Amino acid sequence: MRVHVADHPLITHKLTVLRDKNTPSPVFRSLVEELMTLLAYEGTRGVRVEPVDIETPVSPTTGVRIADPKPLIVPILRAGLGMLEGMVKLVPTAEVGFLGMARNEETLEPTTYAERLPDDLSDRQCFVLDPMLATGGSLIAAIEFLLKRGATDVTAICILAAPEGLAAVEQAMEGRGEVSVVLGAVDERLNELGYIVPGLGDAGDRLYGTV
Ligand code: PRP
Ligand code: URA
Repeated sequence: MRVHVADHPLITHKLTVLRDKNTPSPVFRSLVEELMTLLAYEGTRGVRVEPVDIETPVSPTTGVRIADPKPLIVPILRAGLGMLEGMVKLVPTAEVGFLGMARNEETLEPTTYAERLPDDLSDRQCFVLDPMLATGGSLIAAIEFLLKRGATDVTAICILAAPEGLAAVEQAMEGRGEVSVVLGAVDERLNELGYIVPGLGDAGDRLYGTV
């Protein structure tokens, strides 16, 4: 599995404001979207393109366009929804599918409560969006869902990860096709409640104001 931690002062700056417990929901939402756009630049480095002939005002030339079938973006509800606009801004022709997952706060096991995805993903590049990779349980379940539908090329984009969760995803995805994870930062650890330390708290609650 390929892991890339985007290292850029703008990302670190925005992440610092995002982490701050005094940052209100509207600012938090904007920052998640902006961070997503910055991470999308790294995450889409391998997006499939095909040659296209065009004419500039001066001469004919050849460029590229995003190849068919278009990439599929899969935000993991709820918190991943906050990243969607930041991604489609950069890849407006992509299609969007949805996976709804919730982590049981006692067992930390994820359950899938909603799914709206194409049946056959065998030739689709898939981009999974979820701000938080904590134990890794949700991301492993989401990627496995896509692999079962035939996906062979999956990139997960997360804002923060815990080292324990990242290791769990790496272990689960060993030999399972082309899986990449692009991250804004890898934090210190998970605490006993399964929260990322120092982290940013509960991303879904902070996005949607249910704290
Ligand atoms: C959060 C987060 C991830 C998951 C990460 O979602 O957005 O999906 O927890 O934890 P894990 O790596 O230990 O599985 P949550 O289940 O709280 O749902 P929400 O997005 O609706 O808030
Ligand atoms: N989910 C979150 O939203 N935050 C964490 O720190 C862990 C899981």
